[in-house]
Amino acid sequence: GSDSHYDFVIVGGGTSGLVVANRLSELGDVSVAVIEAGDSVLNNHNVSTTTGYGLSFGTAIDWAYQTEDQIYAGGSKQTMRAGKAIGGTSTINGMSYTRAQKVQIDSWEKFGNKGWNWDSLFPYYLKSEQFQVPTADQAARGADYYKSYHGEHGPLKVGWPKFMTNSSVLPILDQTFQQLGVSYNRDINGGSMVGLTVHPDTIDREANVRHDAARAYFWPYENRSNLKIISNTYANKIVWGEDSGGDAVAVGVEVRGVEGVETIYASKEVILSAGSLKSPAILEHSGIGNPDILKKHGISLKVNISSVGENLQDQTNNGLFYEGKEFWLGLPTFSALPSAEQIYGDDSSTVASRVSSNLADYAKNVSVASNGAVQEANVLAALQLQYDLVFKSHVPFAEIVLIPIGHSFSSEYWPLLPFSRGSVHIQSPDPSEAPAINPNYFMFAPDLDAQVGVARFIRKAFETSPLNHLVGEEYAPGFEHVPEDASDSVWQSWVRSNYRSNFHPVGTVSMLSRDKGGAVGPDLKVYGTKNVRVIDASVVPFQLCGHLTSTLYAIAERASDLIKKRYVF
Ligand code: FDA
Repeated sequence: GSDSHYDFVIVGGGTSGLVVANRLSELGDVSVAVIEAGDSVLNNHNVSTTTGYGLSFGTAIDWAYQTEDQIYAGGSKQTMRAGKAIGGTSTINGMSYTRAQKVQIDSWEKFGNKGWNWDSLFPYYLKSEQFQVPTADQAARGADYYKSYHGEHGPLKVGWPKFMTNSSVLPILDQTFQQLGVSYNRDINGGSMVGLTVHPDTIDREANVRHDAARAYFWPYENRSNLKIISNTYANKIVWGEDSGGDAVAVGVEVRGVEGVETIYASKEVILSAGSLKSPAILEHSGIGNPDILKKHGISLKVNISSVGENLQDQTNNGLFYEGKEFWLGLPTFSALPSAEQIYGDDSSTVASRVSSNLADYAKNVSVASNGAVQEANVLAALQLQYDLVFKSHVPFAEIVLIPIGHSFSSEYWPLLPFSRGSVHIQSPDPSEAPAINPNYFMFAPDLDAQVGVARFIRKAFETSPLNHLVGEEYAPGFEHVPEDASDSVWQSWVRSNYRSNFHPVGTVSMLSRDKGGAVGPDLKVYGTKNVRVIDASVVPFQLCGHLTSTLYAIAERASDLIKKRYVF
């Protein structure tokens, strides 16, 4: 019927997809449909409550993807959480709002993505943001900022929780971390992230609810007559037009909805925003990817891009847990982001040269693991970039989250730029079957070394005055399991048996030039297609030091402008 014809069809009403849907439907004369597998979570308390982190895990709105056995990390599978809802993963995430280090975004342009650098992305961070200036009470508890780093008129509310941790904590953390060489950073959202900080969240302070992508970009605009969300509907694959010898032309998307299988037609473009664990799988089901993989599942090749689904980069998360000597109320947002030098101290140059001398070997291993789908030289360039960021540009090496709450003081942490590379590929011709996800956690020694090095650093922080006065017994790892003088191998086995995914997968449909192993160009259009774009965490070519949503909102804002420029004259 006529209700299945639109100008733009967006697959995935998540963090990125809803931005694009909102901005494109600002053009009154185009129609936009969003296909979303999940449903509304507007009235889901697990989503809206600001103190409910984790409540949605394992419920119907969590895809809870299972990885392959992680052979470098003890052998077990991991659960990779992702939101299945209008609003996507922004409805279940930790709400932290931190961007990236300037040089990281600048590296996108250095690697051939013309127009993508910090200065060109920065206005879009601001465009998406509606910063909530801290109250006097919040300021007293450590909320601080530079006005020029923040936007006032965007849809996404960013600020500090209504109830923050007691004001006595920040000075104690500050004095402690200063002794470990980590200084206070008043606002890490200006492109310079190293330091101890009290970061903002994606929160509507007055309503005291999570501000996810749906609350920000969709619900206030749901009555636009040219914007339609088709929920509870699963996208199988792209439907192609007649082959005319040139670039492939998408005419729509095959979906399985409440009324069975049908096609939703797109007269202008199909945009994939299904997330980094799903967008590459949809491309493969549509005939775009590595010919060997498609052949195995009887899918005819439309465009040969062997890197689709490769280059998967996630981080690994462990936690230390202490008895608290006080009772803390309020939602803490303290993070320390030390550099590699601050973590490794005098050993830093030894660590750096060990990593450097092995990069070529790692690149070769990644290429072999991909059966040649990614080229050694391209991987090496990416690993070298990462090495330079860590050891020459001194970007943050780890995020250490500090959580005083109730009668406990815990810390979760993740090294920010692991060298391991994995993949996500379909494992069946049936689109409803989840893809095989293999992050290859701890594939290379420096990643496991980093996980141990940061844990040791955190233990040292909790032993340093004045922070040591706030905590009692170490419950985890605990000195009976990991003694004070524990060897590397004792720490490593604790890491392997307790780590989890940090839920920041990126890179599976990388924005890079085609000869460097990219799948989309700087216009985010899939190579070899006329009108298919990918706009979500898949396109981020290299892992970031910030949490992802702030940058994904900015990418989607900028991408929307690029698309609009094509259709408005
Ligand atoms: P996103 O997952 O948002 O959207 C994809 C959408 O596509 C989903 O709605 C999904 O249901 C839909 N979909 C998938 N396949 C489909 C199909 N075949 N048909 C139809 N629809 C389909 N970031 C941050 O900034 N701060 C933080 O504190 C945290 N913390 C955190 C905690 C946890 C537990 C997780 C899982 C993640 C985080 N993150 C985070 C990461 C961040 O939330 C995440 O990277 C982004 O929300 C991803 O946005 P995307 O647009 O890429 O996909």
